[in-house]
Amino acid sequence: MELANRVQTLTPSSTLAITAKAKELKQAGHDVIGLGAGEPDFNTPEPILKAAANAMYDGFTKYTPAGGTVGLKQAIQQKMKEDQNLSYDLDQIIVTIGAKHALYTLFQVLLNKEDEVIVPTPYWVSYPEQIKLAEGKPVFVDAQESNEFKLTPEQLEQAITDKTRAVILNSPSNPTGVMYEKEELEALGKVCLKHNILIVSDEIYEKLTYTSTKHVSIAEISPELKEQTVIINGVSKSHSMTGWRIGYAVGNKQIIKAMTNLASHSTSNPTSIAQVAAEAAYTGSQEPVQEMKEAFSERLEKLYEWLVAIPGIECVKPKGAFYLFPNVKKAVELNGFDSVDDWVKALLEEEKVALVPGSGFGAPNNVRLSYAISLDQLEDAANRIKRFVENHQ
Ligand SMILES: Cc1ncc(COP(=O)(O)O)c(C=O)c1O
Repeated sequence: MELANRVQTLTPSSTLAITAKAKELKQAGHDVIGLGAGEPDFNTPEPILKAAANAMYDGFTKYTPAGGTVGLKQAIQQKMKEDQNLSYDLDQIIVTIGAKHALYTLFQVLLNKEDEVIVPTPYWVSYPEQIKLAEGKPVFVDAQESNEFKLTPEQLEQAITDKTRAVILNSPSNPTGVMYEKEELEALGKVCLKHNILIVSDEIYEKLTYTSTKHVSIAEISPELKEQTVIINGVSKSHSMTGWRIGYAVGNKQIIKAMTNLASHSTSNPTSIAQVAAEAAYTGSQEPVQEMKEAFSERLEKLYEWLVAIPGIECVKPKGAFYLFPNVKKAVELNGFDSVDDWVKALLEEEKVALVPGSGFGAPNNVRLSYAISLDQLEDAANRIKRFVENHQ
């Protein structure tokens, strides 16, 4: 079957591939510990479930406006005001089928053929593919591990050409868990304003932060930066609602209008009852978010200590999200493997621990571990990795 050019080079998500492989081994009876998960391991909080069930039985089961219900948009408006002190009109907000679809739609309305988007490496796996699907060109800039994987203003300035339309910032980051400080965002923002490039600020892990460093959105810094930024967010990670598929974008009216038009011809609307659930997530008690965050914080502290005690494993300590992104180059060499990918494969085969190789995130010396599983399982996984490294020395 002859398929369209645009999907010929599309690669399946590496994170989904490893999770699928781990599941397959599990189903075959192996005691596998999967550290590949990209979603919280908690149930969606009860009041959110109730709101959705009520909506369903109340007959809220029909089409909604393409860009989302007024109720949910108002809840998002309120959230942006309370958390970031940012005011948006309702026509500056679009509700989408998860944050992923907000990003997809944004690139579709923003990019012409060969337009460039600056993607700091390591990156979330879908950014380059989505940019390419919009006929744009991802321009990778190596954010150095020695600089906590953060893009510098000098690097940004150097990467800009007359084809640059946007830069992606993801703080807290998947896969590294690092966060930008306000001053760092200010400096990057200056460069973006100078060259008039749009900032795509992916803030999906905003609520999951574990240090005194407060999450800052670049749009909060000045009215000019607010106008220059499209914020991407959603309830998937914050309220453990990955399967409900509700995300959103807020920003420039024209961009949001174009995104809404596109959605009206592609998805019609996000699922009606999921929108009610997301509205309940934002307007109800935020206690469950806090509880989840505390559990993640404890796991991070412990797993970090266990990992860095293993010979050849070094790690920038994350401040948010639920991933660790250690550099295992030394361990791989010590263990006599040719590449991190081979090391990860052998670890899965011998010790039944599934990690995601960093190559999928543009960082071939690293691996990503998700701590969205119980502390007991994390301890078991760390012991198995340690045994694997020691056995191969
Ligand atoms: C950095 C980043 N952005 C966006 C998304 C997409 O989130 P959603 O599940 O709401 O589509 C993810 C999910 O893994 C992510 O890690």
